Amino acid sequence: MKTGLVSLFIFFHLLSISSAEMSSKVGICYGQLGSNLPSPPESAKLIKSVKAARVKIYDANPDILKSFKNTGIQVSIMVPNEIINNISSNGSLADQWVRTNVLPHYRYTKIRYLLVGNEILSIPDNITWSNLVPAMRKIRSSLKALGIRKIKVGTPLAMDVLQSSFPPSNGTFRSDISGSVMKPMLQFLNRTKSFFFLDAYTYFPWSSDPKNINLDYALLESRNITYTDPVTNLAYTNLFDQMIDAVIFAMKRLGYPNIRIFIGETGWPNGGDFDQIGANIYNAATYNRNIVKKLTSKPSIGTPARPGWVLPSFVFSLFNENQKPGPGTERHFGLFYPNGSKVYEIDLSGETSEEEYKKKPLPKPTNNELYKGKIWCVAAKGANRSELASALSYACTQGNKTCDPIQPGKACSKPDSLVWHASYAFSSYWAQFKRLGGTCYFNKLATQTIKDPSYGSCKFPSVTL
Ligand SMILES: *[C@@H]1O[C@H](CO)[C@@H](O)[C@H](O)[C@H]1NC(C)=O
Ligand SMILES: *[C@@H]1O[C@H](CO)[C@@H](O)[C@H](O)[C@H]1NC(C)=O
Ligand SMILES: *[C@@H]1O[C@H](CO)[C@@H](O)[C@H](O)[C@H]1NC(C)=O
Ligand SMILES: *[C@@H]1O[C@H](CO)[C@@H](O)[C@H](O)[C@H]1NC(C)=O
Ligand SMILES: *[C@@H]1O[C@H](CO)[C@@H](O)[C@H](O)[C@H]1NC(C)=O
Ligand SMILES: *[C@@H]1O[C@H](CO)[C@@H](O)[C@H](O)[C@H]1NC(C)=O
Ligand SMILES: *[C@@H]1O[C@H](CO)[C@@H](O)[C@H](O)[C@H]1NC(C)=O
Ligand SMILES: *[C@@H]1O[C@H](CO)[C@@H](O)[C@H](O)[C@H]1NC(C)=O
Ligand SMILES: *[C@@H]1O[C@H](CO)[C@@H](O)[C@H](O)[C@H]1NC(C)=O
Repeated sequence: MKTGLVSLFIFFHLLSISSAEMSSKVGICYGQLGSNLPSPPESAKLIKSVKAARVKIYDANPDILKSFKNTGIQVSIMVPNEIINNISSNGSLADQWVRTNVLPHYRYTKIRYLLVGNEILSIPDNITWSNLVPAMRKIRSSLKALGIRKIKVGTPLAMDVLQSSFPPSNGTFRSDISGSVMKPMLQFLNRTKSFFFLDAYTYFPWSSDPKNINLDYALLESRNITYTDPVTNLAYTNLFDQMIDAVIFAMKRLGYPNIRIFIGETGWPNGGDFDQIGANIYNAATYNRNIVKKLTSKPSIGTPARPGWVLPSFVFSLFNENQKPGPGTERHFGLFYPNGSKVYEIDLSGETSEEEYKKKPLPKPTNNELYKGKIWCVAAKGANRSELASALSYACTQGNKTCDPIQPGKACSKPDSLVWHASYAFSSYWAQFKRLGGTCYFNKLATQTIKDPSYGSCKFPSVTL
């Protein structure tokens, strides 16, 4: 009787520990696409300093795994996209991957999630799509064969797996993946009690339609906006919940209403290009503090479709990563600059109060509305000269008379310098192609400016939003 009570107590105690572990704690994504980032041990210190309970890496870098030895921090590792096809049809390759990347670290580093590929269904490669779930199964079998039971296998997916997300009850997976990929995937996640890892950013839908979506609604800052789904009558008070529930309804539609969601990435950019809206430190701090508060609340808040459910999560990202391609926002999701200083105060444990945060005021946002002036596109400082020459030639072959003014004797031919000519060509290209989706990037060689580079009778073409 006595022992029975004791063991019952221990049982409940353990249960509460493990559910607390699964709970509400927020982790961080540790991307490494920067040429100037701190070492793994220094990065681990920064991760502890923001009280992250978990860390997600985009590979299985052994130096990083070693730096989380005996820290108690849960780690998520990733099978690279490139080997999914081979793993899907080769069990010994899966075994080999697990033996090389998991086994040496597993005893000391709390590897708990193994993600197969990164946002595979957003990449236009339907061969890999069809091999994704088979690869997940192979990896899971390899773990099982080695007696490793604590690691959940999943794959992070972006919101573009949905063809419809509004109203949330209308959430539907894309028809090109619904039956062939999503259905078997959900079956796998259900059978293995794993998670649907979802990368969800309210920034993207808001920034592409800031007229119709309220900024505070996207920042989880609104106190008075409610959207009621006409089909379910569920009331939404922020865009994040709407997005999560759209995925929940899509899963339900395929017959899997109970698979848990794990937020694989969420966040808000602290900076971006002149033609981007709302990417600033104020909004980034506001969003991340609000999402941490929501996700760490006790008891759990969940979403309107799943009130009270725990939503484990990773915030993106540890550092501003200067080698990420695409628009400027991509390189500005960090909680830290590469030199290790904080972009803003943030505590992922949710223990820091709003009053505490208010002691260090944030810089006021200056780009919450679209920039109204002219923008030019010029050669970036320190751009590699031979690459710049190629980009110049390329830009000149595009559009109409793009480079005429820099030809000998024309208004923009002098000074006869590579940087000057490339800057003209980039501005001229961008002015013609922006409306067609062209960007001012040229593989890091170009950058936007609001300072008119025109000189004398040479007028640079510009973009207005
Ligand atoms: C996949 O397997 C094929 C055949 O064994 C091999 O030639 C190829 O290099 C492998 N691909 C990768 C990315 O490892
Ligand atoms: C499967 O992977 C193993 C281990 O990498 C390799 O030796 C073998 O050649 C692969 N089999 C096929 C059919 O590619
Ligand atoms: C992949 O896409 C091509 C071209 O759109 C199509 O013909 C093919 O059937 C698709 N394959 C799969 C496995 O979905
Ligand atoms: C629901 O989604 C479908 C596409 O899946 C779309 O055609 C339809 O317009 C959506 N309904 C509403 C009310 O938006
Ligand atoms: C919500 O409150 C803000 C500030 O108090 C106000 O500007 C806005 O008009 C209100 N919106 C609605 C839908 O009531
Ligand atoms: C798996 O599916 C079964 C049958 O639909 C359901 O009862 C169960 O709750 C599901 N489990 C999870 C973890 O989704
Ligand atoms: C770190 O980098 C940021 C951004 O470049 C800069 O503002 C800050 O002053 C730097 N801090 C230190 C300690 O060098
Ligand atoms: C410039 O780029 C070329 C081609 O990518 C490369 O071979 C060269 O090493 C680069 N030069 C410098 C100084 O980085
Ligand atoms: C180039 O000129 C043609 C004919 O006027 C026009 O149809 C086309 O859209 C122009 N191209 C660009 C990129 O503006």
